[in-house]
Amino acid sequence: MTTAQSHTPQGCKIPVGILGVGHFAPPEIVTNQDLAKFVDTTDEWILSRTGIKARRRAASHQATSDLAYEAAVQALHNAGVEPRDLDLIIVATMTPDCPMPSTSCLVQHRLGATRAGGFDLNIACSGFVYALITGSQFVASGTYRRVLVVGADVMTRFMNWQDRTTCVLFGDGAGAVVLGPVAPGYGLLGVHLGINGAGGTNLTINAGGSRLPSWSDNIQRQDYYLQMVGPEVFRFAVQVMGEAALKALHSANLTPEQVTLFIPHQANARIIEAARKRLGLPLDRVFSNVEHYGNTSCGSVPLALSEACQQDRIHDDDLVVLVGFGGGLSWGSAAIRWGGLLRES
Ligand code: UT7
Repeated sequence: MTTAQSHTPQGCKIPVGILGVGHFAPPEIVTNQDLAKFVDTTDEWILSRTGIKARRRAASHQATSDLAYEAAVQALHNAGVEPRDLDLIIVATMTPDCPMPSTSCLVQHRLGATRAGGFDLNIACSGFVYALITGSQFVASGTYRRVLVVGADVMTRFMNWQDRTTCVLFGDGAGAVVLGPVAPGYGLLGVHLGINGAGGTNLTINAGGSRLPSWSDNIQRQDYYLQMVGPEVFRFAVQVMGEAALKALHSANLTPEQVTLFIPHQANARIIEAARKRLGLPLDRVFSNVEHYGNTSCGSVPLALSEACQQDRIHDDDLVVLVGFGGGLSWGSAAIRWGGLLRES
């Protein structure tokens, strides 16, 4: 964590909070038993090493913007915000529909968010937390009042279905939040972002960019697939998850004892458990849905946040801590005081 910087938005004039959340996962469920039919694995191995029982797979006609759009519609509805009132749309994804146009433009067009600006943000599985913090700056500065932040990925398109060390881990999904001003003392209280490019080769998709364009000669099929040195990423994740949560909390003069719900990146139940112990949190203060979805990359944290809200696990005045980590290597965290919604004039 040598390159990390901690910041708190204390100097900001306008407190920024989450006005509504939503999520979407494609309906097709792929169980561990389904995978064991064509790759050398077992339900017992996957469950005991990762906590995953099933994941969702997008249909062949579905791309990331389709998942993002559905999650956005739900978040806007729950926030009571009309698409035309959006000022900005940020889509965090590492699996855009295509290199151009930006996924944010595709989502903006389908929503009819005619006044909004937008862009995509790619920092692998940490993307949603980065986009959340980026979007919050526009509201905090008074530049914009309504920002839609979506995290969405269709990871199954980038899996080598012969590689048991990766294909059992990932799934497809999306989550979204609408940001806006909230009452003083609420919203994003402390944040923390970090990257360490020295570890980047442990988690890669090598082809499809400017170094190995899709039309390159001698390109290996596996270069289009996600590749991971699992144990290295595991070691990194176990260290960074708890530390990142602590940095966001400390930057706002908060402590783990005050945390009501910890919502970490849903990559592996063992990583989540290590972070829970590091933070000294009881089991009921940690939210996990990794068993149902696997690792949905940028969808992971907002999908978990949205399900936690649906399950009535978050209430006004609660202190919620979000942590993302992933390729880069990268990580990000945010401590959020829930509630404080303002009556709009
Ligand atoms: O958002 C991206 C972040 N990514 C992550 O957070 C992933 C972090 N890494 C992990 O979660 C874990 O490293 C894995 C779940 C990927 C692997 O678990 P592990 O306990 O680190 O296992 P391992 O890689 O050390 O492999 C142990 C054994 C190996 O066999 P040998 O060499 O001991 O004979 C693997 O070949 O397990 C084997 N193995 C499998 N066996 C059955 C690996 N994958 C599988 C599999 N089914 N799917």
